[in-house]
Amino acid sequence: MTKPDRQLDWAMANRTFRRAFRSSFHYAMATVGENGAPHLTPIGSVLLNDPGRGIFFDIFSSQLSQNLDRDPRVCVLAVDSAKSFWLASLARGHFMGPPALRLTGTAGPRRTATPTEQQRWLRRVRPARRLKGHQLLWGNLTHVRDLTFHSALPVHLGAMTKHLETQPPHPEQNGIKPTATA
Ligand SMILES: Cc1cc2nc3c(=O)[nH]c(=O)nc-3n(C[C@H](O)[C@H](O)[C@H](O)COP(=O)(O)O)c2cc1C
Repeated sequence: MTKPDRQLDWAMANRTFRRAFRSSFHYAMATVGENGAPHLTPIGSVLLNDPGRGIFFDIFSSQLSQNLDRDPRVCVLAVDSAKSFWLASLARGHFMGPPALRLTGTAGPRRTATPTEQQRWLRRVRPARRLKGHQLLWGNLTHVRDLTFHSALPVHLGAMTKHLETQPPHPEQNGIKPTATA
């Protein structure tokens, strides 16, 4: 059961997610295999929307997609692995924001991506637009799945995240605090 006082506000979740993408280029997406075994897949194209909502492009996966068709439960782990973030945090003795974030929820059926969704992803990978692999990877962004998250929990790391663990409980929307607390 999720502890409400450990819920992240959605703005903070978004920031952690963006930092993680910039440094790692993917998130670890966990699904449930046929026999109940955990299954992990690297997925880069998770885009967060309103509080507790997001999408990802389901293009290349096979096992992941089969798992979600059978059991929609999903857990997404985002880790900021930027050297600069870690060195600055280690020097300071605390992390300014969570070093990692765990989003838990469900994925909807695979559906056709809208032009707006495609454009949003293409904006994110625009710096690579002139490179050969850009068209190979993102030239055919046909399908997405909707994500609905019921919890967004920061990953704690001993004394260096202690100050982030004491945030007071907030009103919740889908179990996820909608705004930043400053
Ligand atoms: C960094 C990285 C990011 C990826 N992002 C995506 C993605 O956003 N969408 C997708 O369909 N596949 C993506 N893939 C490819 C899948 O992870 C890959 O096809 C994987 O083998 C699928 O495994 P599974 O379906 O057996 O779990 C990515 C792979 C890597 C290495």
